[in-house]
Amino acid sequence: MRIFLDTGHLDEIEQAVAWGVCDGVTTNPSLHARAVAREGAQGGRALEYRERILRIAELVDGPISAECVSRTEDELVAEATELASWHEQVVVKIPIDAAGLGAIRRVSEQGIAVNTTLIFSLTQALLAARAGAAYVSPFVGRLDDIGHDGVELVEQVVAVLDQYHLPTQVIAASLRGPQHVARCALAGAHIATLPFGVIEQMLKHPLTDKGIEAFLTDWRAAQAQLGAAPVG
Ligand code: E4P
Repeated sequence: MRIFLDTGHLDEIEQAVAWGVCDGVTTNPSLHARAVAREGAQGGRALEYRERILRIAELVDGPISAECVSRTEDELVAEATELASWHEQVVVKIPIDAAGLGAIRRVSEQGIAVNTTLIFSLTQALLAARAGAAYVSPFVGRLDDIGHDGVELVEQVVAVLDQYHLPTQVIAASLRGPQHVARCALAGAHIATLPFGVIEQMLKHPLTDKGIEAFLTDWRAAQAQLGAAPVG
């Protein structure tokens, strides 16, 4: 399973790239707004959306999702074409609805990769895949929020796309913690897009911390007995 960062914060992307766990990035208007607010609060110049996407492209080799905000099919096609012209790594994000579906077909036919966003049902994913979307993004956490099992949707979408040999890839989105990530990996999601904090949580285990502490204590004791300089 590939790992994308779900963020507009450049420092988070830099760190994940340095760790070797950033195969791509997804953004959306809310993540952009959050990054703009943080840049403003830090007293720096906040980046326009195009600048942010281009800066991300300097950091990451893989696909970068940039989201359309237009509401009619023709406007979506024009906006998606514009976003895709920014950089060859750009994948355009289009929400699934009637206007979105028509735009997904037209944009995909132009050879532009589409990430269909705000997927909350198997049938939405199936329609997007049949319309030619390169990716579908089922939103796990937001489904959990209303009492559904979001990971179950990922399992279903992966199974049905596979059953019909549809080439669309599944990006498990709206993931809130390591358990979501583990279950989506077991479900066969092609990609998980993660907030930086979830990657940090995935790294941690109390037994690892305890084990490191015990090894260091024993190492220091051995070095002391040998009369050698303690390390660590
Ligand atoms: C996916 O592409 C979305 O940007 C994201 O995963 C939404 O997550 P949220 O429900 O935490 O906002």
